[in-house]
Amino acid sequence: MTGFERWGAAMARTLYGPGGFYRRELPGRHFATSAQTPAFAEAIATLADQVDARLGRPAGFTVVDVGAGGGELLERLAGLLDERVRLVAVELRPRPPYLPGRVEWRVEPPEEIEGLLIACELLDNAPCDVAVVDGRGRVRYEEVDGSGETRLGEPVTGADAAWLAEWWPIFTEGERAEIGAPREALWRDLTARLTRGTALAIDYGHLKTNRPEAGTMTGFKDGRETPPIPDATRDITAHVAVDAIACDRLETQREALLNLGLDADLPPLPMAFHDPVGYAEALARAGTAARLTDPQGLGAHWWLRTDRDLR
Ligand SMILES: C[S@@+](CC[C@H](N)C(=O)[O-])C[C@H]1O[C@@H](n2cnc3c(N)ncnc32)[C@H](O)[C@@H]1O
Repeated sequence: MTGFERWGAAMARTLYGPGGFYRRELPGRHFATSAQTPAFAEAIATLADQVDARLGRPAGFTVVDVGAGGGELLERLAGLLDERVRLVAVELRPRPPYLPGRVEWRVEPPEEIEGLLIACELLDNAPCDVAVVDGRGRVRYEEVDGSGETRLGEPVTGADAAWLAEWWPIFTEGERAEIGAPREALWRDLTARLTRGTALAIDYGHLKTNRPEAGTMTGFKDGRETPPIPDATRDITAHVAVDAIACDRLETQREALLNLGLDADLPPLPMAFHDPVGYAEALARAGTAARLTDPQGLGAHWWLRTDRDLR
């Protein structure tokens, strides 16, 4: 059992350290994401094609998926985008054996990217510290041990205190906040690599007008939400303070996917009689589209988009 440490250190160690959760586990075994679905891949292929066209279809057009997980998105894009498009997965876990050869797999993002940089449910997994207001109204770091027990640590000062004051002020005893500065820094580092094209982060999150009082730190394991115990057996995640992340456009996934032409309509009933297989497939597609755009579910995820030198 490890001693007490701040949440950021506990997340970094148990998710990404030696033997960490994401060093061995496939996200799709533990939770469902948009990027694991074919309809989402089709929408991203449409977006990639739009960006490619606006850049004048350059020879080096690249789609980079940072935090690619099991590579499901790029696997599908390999069947949807023409051979000229370079496909790059950036991941800490080993390359899955089923990926097509044209998908590159690497640990570090390319230094320069011309094309589409995408990160689906990456920022919520970027380690971050938790702040709590104590009985005397002081804001202190929360510390956690390997059993999930917590205690209060040092007062929050310096850049973390400044981040809280600007983005997530807390005053009342017991109020909690997740300090989002590391997510902002990670996204700044990734978007700085974009020379021309679009960077898109997709994640669950909240705005300053509706931050959750008790914070959002939680765990996922075997398809279930669990307490966030940093024991390397589970995902540990916290929603993203999305308005604190620099971008050109912030919209919900529902808005973004409908703009990209995702069709959530049910197929016409007569199709069931003249094309039963096609009808069953269309029905399944419509079900997935409805799930991806559900305003109470995946449709409420945020799309943070930044464009560079698009004509
Ligand atoms: C929640 S999973 C999302 C997987 C996939 N994008 C999806 O939406 O299904 C987050 C993934 O990001 C990866 N990851 C986290 N930090 C990373 C980093 N700095 N560089 C590369 N991959 C990272 C983890 O290993 C994990 O597979």
